[in-house]
Amino acid sequence: MSSLSAKISLDANRTIAEISPLLFGGFAEHMGRCIYEGVYEPKSAHADAAGLRTDVLEALRAQRYTTIRYPGGNFLSGYNWLDGVGPQDQRPRRRELAWQSLETNQFGTNEFMGFCQAIGAAPMLGVNMGTGTIQAAADLVDYCNTPAGTYYSDLRTRHGYSAPHKVKYWCVGNEMDGPWQMGALKAHEYGAKAREAAKLMRWIDPSIQTVLCGSSNDQMPTYPEWDRVALEEAWEQMDYLSMHYYAGNRENDTPSFLASAVQFERFVDTLEGTLRYVKAKRRSKHEVYLSWDEWQVWYKGDPLQGNWTEAPHLAEEMYNLEDALVVGQWLNVFLRKSHVLKIACVAQIVNVISWLHTRGDELLKQPSFYVFELVSTYARGQALDLWVQAPLQQTQKYGDVPVLDVAASLDPASGDGAIFLVNRSLADSVVTELSWVDGSVVTLDKGWQLAGSDPKAINSWEQPNTLVAQPIALPRVADGQATVQLPPLSFTVLTTHSRQRNG
Ligand code: AHR
Repeated sequence: MSSLSAKISLDANRTIAEISPLLFGGFAEHMGRCIYEGVYEPKSAHADAAGLRTDVLEALRAQRYTTIRYPGGNFLSGYNWLDGVGPQDQRPRRRELAWQSLETNQFGTNEFMGFCQAIGAAPMLGVNMGTGTIQAAADLVDYCNTPAGTYYSDLRTRHGYSAPHKVKYWCVGNEMDGPWQMGALKAHEYGAKAREAAKLMRWIDPSIQTVLCGSSNDQMPTYPEWDRVALEEAWEQMDYLSMHYYAGNRENDTPSFLASAVQFERFVDTLEGTLRYVKAKRRSKHEVYLSWDEWQVWYKGDPLQGNWTEAPHLAEEMYNLEDALVVGQWLNVFLRKSHVLKIACVAQIVNVISWLHTRGDELLKQPSFYVFELVSTYARGQALDLWVQAPLQQTQKYGDVPVLDVAASLDPASGDGAIFLVNRSLADSVVTELSWVDGSVVTLDKGWQLAGSDPKAINSWEQPNTLVAQPIALPRVADGQATVQLPPLSFTVLTTHSRQRNG
């Protein structure tokens, strides 16, 4: 193993933007075992009185999710929300077409609200723009948010929920550009339908915020034209444009996979340009931001169709070290793009394309679980605009890419900060000099590292602690400088405290 060197300078006066807490959101879909056997399992030894799995709740709380998007996903585009409310023994069992499964509807909107409360996250609800009408979308807002005195708010009260759920964030459809979507539309058709749905929804509750479906990923043939056209139709009625992307290493080209941040940043940059273009074209004063409300590594080829069974095993990816290092970069990109990216939801929170799995009454945390937990715990306040000088490494997909991927945060109110560092190299450690150039007095408080020599290493049920973030010894900061050694294939978090020299 050889060693490279890098330099990073941090300046409290050079900030990008306030980090939106909603960047640490999750996504729960009626797909496979995410809801049933994941979040909700009344027969589990861990179930609480509401049927929620307390072991899962505890793990999700540790990850500090701020918002949860629900109920889909592709599921959303065939969902009648009325199926999922009211007495559970009267709810219909239906064929679920997106994942060819059987849906019992034992978990629905009200159960979801209880779940969000239990983990302290804000609900982000989707309305069906596939088989659903704009009327049904407006009715769901009425059901959830009107205090009392209308048909749907009174129905909610009769269902046992007299207080309104006050749902603020609403996704107007899901991936409506995808031929796989039930009721897929052309961009202008979807833009017009979404605009009218959002208009009615806002007439019922003007305080809500809405998300327009952007392209399903940056490889869609209609990208980014879809985004432009849909935005032009619906601009004034929308607060966010959604982004979805699943990364993968199908070609087993690890150096390129470990440079995925390049693609993530390009995706954001293109859509930021599209937002600016549409705003200018419409001569609008209204702002629309980005909501990356589905992101995750997903490529290992688990089944996607449930053969008309309840809670089938679908897309239960096992994540390895290289996947975790891609997650670390993804979160770094969120901080570096925090001026335009305001919401992000990892897809999904348990069992389905998730770093958290259940098996009977057991629970397994995969390596990327710890990466998300560390960033969502310590990234607070402002994202810093860093100066990074690091050696380049060659990749087939993206050309030369710096060996380090770095982001940092600083909360000016408390002086607490954090630095998040990914060393992408498979072989080289990087001796990294950190310099604080704003004259403040800085101490390093805590440090953790997730590292290993095998990019394919996983946490298995038999050996669940192979890759867990470990505390590391901290270097001393002298004259505003410290040197850390970053091993190859590593993710490191350092927390800092700064105060003004005379403070
Ligand atoms: O998260 C799994 C699926 O991926 C979602 O249902 C869909 O929106 C996306 O294609």
